Amino acid sequence: MKYQNVRGTHDLLGEELQKFEYIENIIYKIAKLYGFQEIRTPILEFAEIFEKNVGEDTDIVNKEMYIFKDKNEEKIALRPEGTAPVVRALISNGLSHNLPLKFFYMGAMFRYERPQKGRQRQFHQVGFEYLGTNHYTSDVEVINLAIDFIKKLGITDYQLQINSLGSKTSLNVYKKELVAYLHSVENKLSADSQIRLQKNPLRILDSKNEQDQKLLQQAPRISDSLIKEDKEEFTKVLESLTSLGIPYTINEKLVRGLDYYSHSVFEIVTNTLGAQGTLIAGGRYNDMIQEMSGPQVGAFGFAAGLERLALMLQPQAVVPESVAIITKADEFNHYALQLANTLRNKYDIPAQYILGKDIKVKLKRTSPKIFKTAIIIGENEYNTKILTVKNLQNNQSTKVEDAKLPSFLQNN
Ligand code: HAM
Repeated sequence: MKYQNVRGTHDLLGEELQKFEYIENIIYKIAKLYGFQEIRTPILEFAEIFEKNVGEDTDIVNKEMYIFKDKNEEKIALRPEGTAPVVRALISNGLSHNLPLKFFYMGAMFRYERPQKGRQRQFHQVGFEYLGTNHYTSDVEVINLAIDFIKKLGITDYQLQINSLGSKTSLNVYKKELVAYLHSVENKLSADSQIRLQKNPLRILDSKNEQDQKLLQQAPRISDSLIKEDKEEFTKVLESLTSLGIPYTINEKLVRGLDYYSHSVFEIVTNTLGAQGTLIAGGRYNDMIQEMSGPQVGAFGFAAGLERLALMLQPQAVVPESVAIITKADEFNHYALQLANTLRNKYDIPAQYILGKDIKVKLKRTSPKIFKTAIIIGENEYNTKILTVKNLQNNQSTKVEDAKLPSFLQNN
């Protein structure tokens, strides 16, 4: 028996978990600001939900989905994404009469991918879904939320890329034209793209292969196949983003790897993370609610990978709040425990009594990654009730009377 993680999974703890909690707090704040309510759907879903909606020919379903038959011979999947489960939940909870509804979710997703930095087999997503409207303002509100989210996290190296796939009808026309062109250059395409040509030709557009990219310069353009209404709709989205001061780049090669999209799709990308540079991805999906037997209304949403966002946080983003209370000898323990108790219970200030066989060990356990300040109690402090508060973040020490300690800690 090897005591190891399953490849592509990891334990969340320490600094990374602190970053997750920090990100989660921002998610709750932003969800409240924009009026999204939380939903927690199961990790297990019928595989069919993803096969039908994400698409049987997509990598996610075809190659990466964890799928098994349970003891009742039901085909079950570990959810590879959160959008189809949210729509399933809308229908199974009879909520489709109350549309529009705005949901957000956080949780583990599973994809059997080749693990690397920022790409795991068990990873965590936060997603926001605006369900039950085709109106362009919902695209804009959700993109605005995504940008606000990135800014609140203090991330500065990012770019919003956007594209319109048009309606499913114009997208199908475009697909045919693209496939015809790609067939004409098929033997020059990379091996990967030749396979994709059979299964999922649109994905060839975001091939990173140089030769493919050269060939794509002559390929038909998606914007040429948009009908007038689609173009007008997309223009409204873009104009609205501009009016909100949100810069964007139109990326005509942005098609997304899931089948359910049409109309506006977007990604927020960064150069900081190399190949795994997509922080946020989403777009409009207008058929899913109806396909799951709900009304014929559209939806718009996105998801972000928490591992990737955590990698983007500045080291100083998560500032510890806790006070470490250290005694030089056991005779000061009662006083130290009382002090910790008062700080926690009367003032809501996190405080910990530090264990250790001597002061050296205790100081070693007082990491600035966990504690904001440290207070050492010896003979002098005990007698005078004047404490030395050391700020572990900037190493400055201040003498404070113990009665004034709570207000000092709250303000410093
Ligand atoms: P997605 O592009 O498959 O879209 O994933 C969204 C985000 O999840 C990615 O941009 C990335 O940050 C993160 N992610 C995906 N796979 C991994 C992985 N193996 N390891 C770490 N992070 C990963 C969706 O899932 C759609 N449901 C998004 C959406 C919501 N569209 C509309 N609503």
